[in-house]
Amino acid sequence: MKLNNKIALVTGGTSGIGLAAVTLFRREGAKVVAVGTDRERLKQVETQLGEDGLAMAANLRRPAEIDRVIEVVRDRYGRVDVLFANAGLGRAASLEAVTEADLDEQFEVNVKGLFFTVQKAVPLIARGGSIVLTTSFLNTKGTPGLSILSATKAAVRSLARTLGAELAPRGIRINAVSPGPISTPFASKMGLSEQELKAFAEGVEGQVPLQRFGEAAEVARAALFLASDDSSYVTGTEVVVDGGLSQF
Ligand SMILES: NC(=O)c1ccc[n+]([C@@H]2O[C@H](COP(=O)([O-])OP(=O)(O)OC[C@H]3O[C@@H](n4cnc5c(N)ncnc54)[C@H](OP(=O)(O)O)[C@@H]3O)[C@@H](O)[C@H]2O)c1
Repeated sequence: MKLNNKIALVTGGTSGIGLAAVTLFRREGAKVVAVGTDRERLKQVETQLGEDGLAMAANLRRPAEIDRVIEVVRDRYGRVDVLFANAGLGRAASLEAVTEADLDEQFEVNVKGLFFTVQKAVPLIARGGSIVLTTSFLNTKGTPGLSILSATKAAVRSLARTLGAELAPRGIRINAVSPGPISTPFASKMGLSEQELKAFAEGVEGQVPLQRFGEAAEVARAALFLASDDSSYVTGTEVVVDGGLSQF
């Protein structure tokens, strides 16, 4: 087992990629703390995690709620070995249509929430620990209507480098996983009509060299590689899981 007895904190652990990672990390021997906001989904994850895991509600837009998660983890486990800072959301809007609230929400979850999750978890991470951030194929692609989401994901890619450089002397690695279009509820929350969503999905799928959407489990396996000692000499980089979309 690749994460035997490791303590793994997974944000966005209630759905999609994070939920797939929770399942996989647990199968690989980790004690998992899953963070999300949806009470119903948190309850389901809690049942799946059993006695040695934890599902916690926290809105990552509020740093005080991240503090609370870290306090509970410190009291219960005393350390974090793996942090998968994965929670995120996106809103589609053209240049003219983007509102201040759209911009704030995406930066507050995808960048501010992620940054403070890392900052607050690091005191619990010892030498040999691993941090994995979720960025996106959008960090290098220009896609109409996704300016703010893409900018947040470029910021996340940048953080893997800068924070990786800061933490390398302490023996803590930080890498990013960069998903392409993945079959999760993510796109359905972008504020598109059903028709727009269908056109968007078909348009993106048509551009993927492997000619299909990816599965959350395929991203989770890349996150496992970065989380585990299999990647012990890998830091500051990203593993791209996008069917070739951003590469060809
Ligand atoms: N799906 C894709 O095509 C794709 C492509 C590239 C990158 N990504 C990235 O992959 C990551 C996971 O997305 P996904 O596809 O798995 O989407 P998802 O199924 O919608 O999952 C998003 C997760 O983030 C959590 N979350 C959202 N806002 C939060 C907040 N304010 N506080 C705490 N948790 C919050 C959600 O928790 P609740 O539901 O409990 O609120 C949920 O667990 C995101 O960072 C996304 O940008 C996805």
